[in-house]
Amino acid sequence: MAIEPLPFPSRKERRKALGEASYNVFHLRSRMITIDLVSDSGTGTMSVKQWRNLLMADEAFSFQKSYDDFVAKAKELTGFEFILPVHQARAAEHILFKLIIRKGTRVIANHLFATTREHLIRCGAEIFELPREGSGDINLKLLKKRLKKDSVVILSVTSNHHGGQVVALDNIEMVSSIVKGRGLLIIDGCRFAENSYLESKRLKIDIKEAIRRTFAASDIFYLSTKKDLLTNIGGMVGVRDKRLFIRLNEMVLAHEGYPSHGGLAGRDLAAITQSFNEIIDLNYLSFRIEQVQRLGRSLKTDGVPVHEPFGCHAITIPACDFVPGLPHPGFTGAAKIYLDGGIRGGVFFEDGEVIRLAIPRRVYTNSQIDYVARSIISTYRKGRFFKLRPTYKPDRLSNFLLRFQRG
Ligand code: F0G
Repeated sequence: MAIEPLPFPSRKERRKALGEASYNVFHLRSRMITIDLVSDSGTGTMSVKQWRNLLMADEAFSFQKSYDDFVAKAKELTGFEFILPVHQARAAEHILFKLIIRKGTRVIANHLFATTREHLIRCGAEIFELPREGSGDINLKLLKKRLKKDSVVILSVTSNHHGGQVVALDNIEMVSSIVKGRGLLIIDGCRFAENSYLESKRLKIDIKEAIRRTFAASDIFYLSTKKDLLTNIGGMVGVRDKRLFIRLNEMVLAHEGYPSHGGLAGRDLAAITQSFNEIIDLNYLSFRIEQVQRLGRSLKTDGVPVHEPFGCHAITIPACDFVPGLPHPGFTGAAKIYLDGGIRGGVFFEDGEVIRLAIPRRVYTNSQIDYVARSIISTYRKGRFFKLRPTYKPDRLSNFLLRFQRG
C-alpha cells in the first residue's frame, strides 16, 4: 500500500500561489492544491495488478511481449484488426488526421475536445459540431443535412461536453448507418467504458456487448488510456483498412516511436493490458459514476448552478451564473474556489465559460467529495469575486494558456 499526503496550504499561501499562477488555475503548482479536479486524464490511481504488470514488463526495442499482450487484449475488446499504441489521444489525432483530413474536408461531430478541434483546424477541415441538446448524441436531422460525400464524422463517447454526456447506442448505430458509403465514422473512445456501462444498464445488456457494439459501428477509433483505461499515460488508434494501417505505421515511426510501442515504455503497455480487465468491473463503474452524481446532487440541492444531466466524469458549472456580471467568470470563479478551499477545477469554453470539476478515477473518497461540495456552496453564497484583466491572450487553446492580473 502507498499513501500520498495532501497539501494544506494556508489561505495566505493560496493567495500567493494564485498570483504566481496568473489567476489561471491550470498554472497552479500541484503541491499547492488540496483536492485537484482539473482533469480526469492521467490522474487516476493504478491497481496492484497494474503495478505488478508494470514491474514484469518487457522493454525490448521492438515487438516486445508487452506489445503482443497489449494488442491481443485491445483486439479482443474492440474487435478491430489493426491497432497501434500511441503516447496519448492527441498523438493519434495528429497522425491520423494528417492522413485522412484534407483542406475543406467536412468534419461533423457531437462535440470535439480542444485538442481534436485544434488538429482538425491545422489540417484545414470544415467543422460542424451538432450535439442533440441535453445529451451526448449527435443531432441526426442536422447530420443528414450537413453530410456530404467523403465527410468524416467523429463521435466522442462519452461526449466531453458538460462533464461527459452519454451517447446512446442507438444514436451511435444510426450515425453508422447514415454515414456508411458516404464517409468515415471515427469513435473518439476516451470514455467508452463509462458510456457502455450506462448504456448496458439502460438496455439491460452485458457491458461487453455494449462495448462491442460501440466499436463495431465505427471505421476507425482512437482513444486515450489516461481516462477510462486507468493509466497515467497512453493511447491507441485502431483501423480496419490495411493500407491506412501501413501508412499509420510510418507516421508512428516518424512521430512517436517504433510502432510496437508508439512512444510508450513496455511497462506502460503492460499496465494498459491489465486495465482492459478492470474497466469492465461493474462495482468499480457504479461507484465511479455515483461519486460524480453525488457531487452534482449536493451542489444542486444547495442552489449552486450546475449543468444537467450530470456528466459521467465531471460536474460543470455555467460560470456566468456562478459569477454574474463579471468578465471572465470561469477564471474568476475557479480562482475563488481555489482560494477558499484549496480545490482546483478547470475552465473550458463550451456554451460560454464553464468551471469543470473532473473527478479522477479511484482517487478521492466520498467524504473528500462532500468537502468539495460544502466548500463550493460556501464560495457561491459568499460571492465577493474579484475582477480579472488578461495580460496574455493566445489565439487558440486559450483556456489552458491565458494569464491575468487582478483589477
Ligand atoms: N478526446 C477527448 C474526448 C478528450 O477528453 C481528450 C482529453 C482528448 C481527446 C485528448 O486526449 O489528453 O490523451 O491527448 N481530455 C482531457 C480532459 C485532457 O481534461 O478532458 P489526450
